[in-house]
Amino acid sequence: MQKDFLNAVEFSHLLLKENVEAGDLVIDATAGNGHDTKYLAELVGADGKVFAFDIQEKAIDQTRELLKMNELSARAELILDSHAKIDQYLTQKISAAIFNLGYLPGGNKEIITRSESTISALKKSIELLKKNGIVILVIYSGHSGGEEEKNELLDFASALDYKKFNVLNYEFLNQPGTPPQVLAIKKRI
Ligand SMILES: C[S@@+](CC[C@H](N)C(=O)[O-])C[C@H]1O[C@@H](n2cnc3c(N)ncnc32)[C@H](O)[C@@H]1O
Repeated sequence: MQKDFLNAVEFSHLLLKENVEAGDLVIDATAGNGHDTKYLAELVGADGKVFAFDIQEKAIDQTRELLKMNELSARAELILDSHAKIDQYLTQKISAAIFNLGYLPGGNKEIITRSESTISALKKSIELLKKNGIVILVIYSGHSGGEEEKNELLDFASALDYKKFNVLNYEFLNQPGTPPQVLAIKKRI
């Protein structure tokens, strides 16, 4: 029996595992320290590719290092640019995209994801999804600006046409503080 509910990051990885196959193209919209990029690189295998974005050189460097240590470098393209420009870097269909929002752990807490660019990137990501593809957002709302970003994302996702997308919100209701939650958007057609 499973000990407890999966936390937000564990749940996001379960969703990735269920939706990504060897050979797929996928996006990590917020590379950060590279943990999601590494996980995706393992899932897509030698014939797939992860397109990983971050606006901070430090994040791209850390992600590059993590991939190198795990001999996964060939499976990822690291892009030092905003995820709002995803469409300038790929037009092929993807099976999944993940956003891990907020600030870089161990980095500058002033550099955070912002709703305007996050929603622009989210719109572009769902356009790239193939049938049954998924976009997953791990949302942190405890920092300044986080609550606003969360609310705008929930408003946007709630308004998506249910005939085209299924939207899931995975949230702990009785934990102290502001635990992260997972918003997942699955393309149905
Ligand atoms: C919570 S961290 C990501 C953690 C990462 N997924 C991991 O596994 O370590 C959020 C990252 O988003 C990046 N970021 C902020 N705005 C961005 C944007 N417009 N485009 C791409 N990345 C952005 C930050 O630089 C930061 O590294």
